[in-house]
Amino acid sequence: MGFVRDMGIDLGTASVLVYVQGKGVVLREPSVVAMDKSTGRLLQVGSAARKMLGRTPGNIVALRPLRDGVISDYDMTERMLRAFIHQAAPVRLFRPRVVICVPSGISEVEERAVIDAGIHAGARRVYLIEEPVAAAIGAGLDIDRPEGHLVVDIGGGTTDIAVISLSGVVESVSIKIAGDAFDDAIVKYVRRKHNLLIGTRTAEEIKIALGCVFPRAEEESMEVTGHDPLIGLPRAVTVSSTETIEAFEEPAQRIVDAIHEVLERTPPELVADISTGGIVMTGGGSLIWGFDKLIESHTGIETRVAEDAISCVAYGTGKSLAHLSSMQDGTRNLSRRKQMNL
Ligand SMILES: Nc1ncnc2c1ncn2[C@@H]1O[C@H](COP(=O)(O)OP(=O)(O)OP(=O)(O)O)[C@@H](O)[C@H]1O
Ligand SMILES: [Mg+2]
Repeated sequence: MGFVRDMGIDLGTASVLVYVQGKGVVLREPSVVAMDKSTGRLLQVGSAARKMLGRTPGNIVALRPLRDGVISDYDMTERMLRAFIHQAAPVRLFRPRVVICVPSGISEVEERAVIDAGIHAGARRVYLIEEPVAAAIGAGLDIDRPEGHLVVDIGGGTTDIAVISLSGVVESVSIKIAGDAFDDAIVKYVRRKHNLLIGTRTAEEIKIALGCVFPRAEEESMEVTGHDPLIGLPRAVTVSSTETIEAFEEPAQRIVDAIHEVLERTPPELVADISTGGIVMTGGGSLIWGFDKLIESHTGIETRVAEDAISCVAYGTGKSLAHLSSMQDGTRNLSRRKQMNL
């Protein structure tokens, strides 16, 4: 088993997906680690660690080492990556080359941190690809022609909006409003409207089960239990899909505004391409019900959610492995260098 397969990694705020060349996506795990505070020992990574979030005794912490799309805890990110790379390809003689996606517009220091984490986690070489470019490739868009495409990738920590042509990013905006912000919006709403404290995991369940940003034909509702600060006891309330429209108004509007901003800055020829070709959404956040309809109603441009939207970035990262020879390792691969041909 000396053969080494290169890997593409979607190192996301919410989840990590590993694509192994010739095999496809072999691993999907939440970006969470659990460690023993007193010994510094890593206890769990991924879904096992996620179950511990918000439920740990004093000596154990469960945390998400990435925040807002970038590394916030370097050491933990590296250890998490190491565990995932090992799980994805346990028997190996050589270290793999790894393509890791990063949000568009991160700083060079942040890029450096991703590269170092990849190398320390066992990669022979690390190549970076911008998340919206990977998302576009993964969504099956033909991006190497001189034709504009608009991709909106709503992840957990960041929403990346980018106009892509000739395999490069022409205009982009990255905002720190994505899936997590919608969870927070539900927490705040339930506190304000129902006087009840709920955790972000419960909020996420509500978001996934019935959250929407556009009126839906049939209203749905679910019962959730939280902590009533007045009586100091648990209490259950019913939350409806219509309420989530109100709760989500602000973050949803921020994303729509950012799309407008990108379109305003985009050269007219490319805007014309986009209005014919439509807007493509990727990332887990794009699955919030009605997001395509909301964007369409504000821009007048046909909008669709890509197939398997959560995996697009990983697929795109994986597909880019076939072009490693034309990519340079390190930080010199991002849109500042638009000439890169994938
Ligand atoms: N069916 C669904 N409906 C609504 N939201 C969903 C659904 N499935 C996943 N999500 C949300 O998608 C987000 C995660 O998306 P994704 O996996 O694309 O993020 P990420 O790539 O890890 O983050 P980032 O790109 O910001 O670093 C989470 O906020 C999650 O709650
Ligand atoms: Mg992502």
